Amino acid sequence: MDLTREEQAILDGESGEGAQKAMELVVALGKIYGAEGLVDITSAHLSGASYKTIGDGGLLYLEDMVKGGAKVKVPSTLNPIGMDRTRWAEMHITEEFAKKQLRIVELYGSMGIKTTCSCTPYTGANVPKLGDHVAWAESSALSFVNSMIGARTNREGGPGALAAAILGKTANYGLHLKENRKPTMVIDAEIGDSLFEHSLLGQAVGMAIGNGIPYYRGIRPGLEEGKTMAAAMAAAGAVAMFHVEGVTPEYKDFDISGLETIHIGKKELEDAHEKLNTVDDVQLISLGCPHLTEKEIHEVAMLLKGKKKRGDTEIWFCTSEAIRSKCADDVRILEEFGPVLADTCMVVAPIEGSFSRTATNSCKAGNYLPTLCSQKVMCKDIAELLKVVY
Ligand code: F3S
Repeated sequence: MDLTREEQAILDGESGEGAQKAMELVVALGKIYGAEGLVDITSAHLSGASYKTIGDGGLLYLEDMVKGGAKVKVPSTLNPIGMDRTRWAEMHITEEFAKKQLRIVELYGSMGIKTTCSCTPYTGANVPKLGDHVAWAESSALSFVNSMIGARTNREGGPGALAAAILGKTANYGLHLKENRKPTMVIDAEIGDSLFEHSLLGQAVGMAIGNGIPYYRGIRPGLEEGKTMAAAMAAAGAVAMFHVEGVTPEYKDFDISGLETIHIGKKELEDAHEKLNTVDDVQLISLGCPHLTEKEIHEVAMLLKGKKKRGDTEIWFCTSEAIRSKCADDVRILEEFGPVLADTCMVVAPIEGSFSRTATNSCKAGNYLPTLCSQKVMCKDIAELLKVVY
């Protein structure tokens, strides 16, 4: 791999131990994937922010990075953490967990990372532009920015994204190279307009295509549909990028003639749906995977307005602090039913200590709740789920 003199000096430890460790990791990844060199990045987004997912080992690693003087060189944001920073008691979180979680956030903050803690930073805190090279972790967010914005990132892990943020560079391979952004399969989608159908479409396509790059025809996703599809495809398969005819910025750049075409319609959505539903009654309903946007919060508020909470099923609404603080009137309506939690989500929170049956309207959460949170799952459209609590 070709390194500049400055990059080699960092590798030799001349910029401190933190930067050296970061360079060792980025160079190792570059060698594995055949990169010829490094490329400058304009931003990073880091996962590995919840104490539940990184544990004491991850906390120690961060302590070491901070001791080694690590600081990020580019604007960087953080994924959801294991709890709402002020309302963790409402999530049945223990004091010990809360203490360690707050320390993790503090350590990231002292490296210069914005501790906004959302999986939708592209709605405000961190918005790349078309053609930007970035290093993003969080499978749904990186697929969104690759696809809907046309920024360029690989499917980074937490440590790789942190290392790239510290260097302001990442290894130049995979989706950083235009030729690797070519679609691998055409999807003729025949679905309705609802958000849930877009999530199921992502689920069906993720299952069908694995880590390929789908090229969709027949849909016109906006922000909300794009984020839910990106999330489902990344969880059901390992899709890091997709194109949509007439919508995404790079769809015209490739020749799709000769690609295999599959049709996804009502039957395929039903099959995808059936696989995710494993229970008929739940203890917790959690909405906001990926984090709820302003529009979604308003739509949920309109569905709940004038209704009364019934039963003892808990309901959580997950979003970012930035969005929560913008929607005071709608948040008041939601709070009649359950907490509007900021900067966390049901998957990275330790819900398995309190619940065993959880409902979601997100196919991504539908995939992860059984494996990462030991939950039986109900996966349905929001309007259906809300009927459980009013
Ligand atoms: Fe975000 Fe958590 Fe879903 S990080 S994409 S809300 S699993």
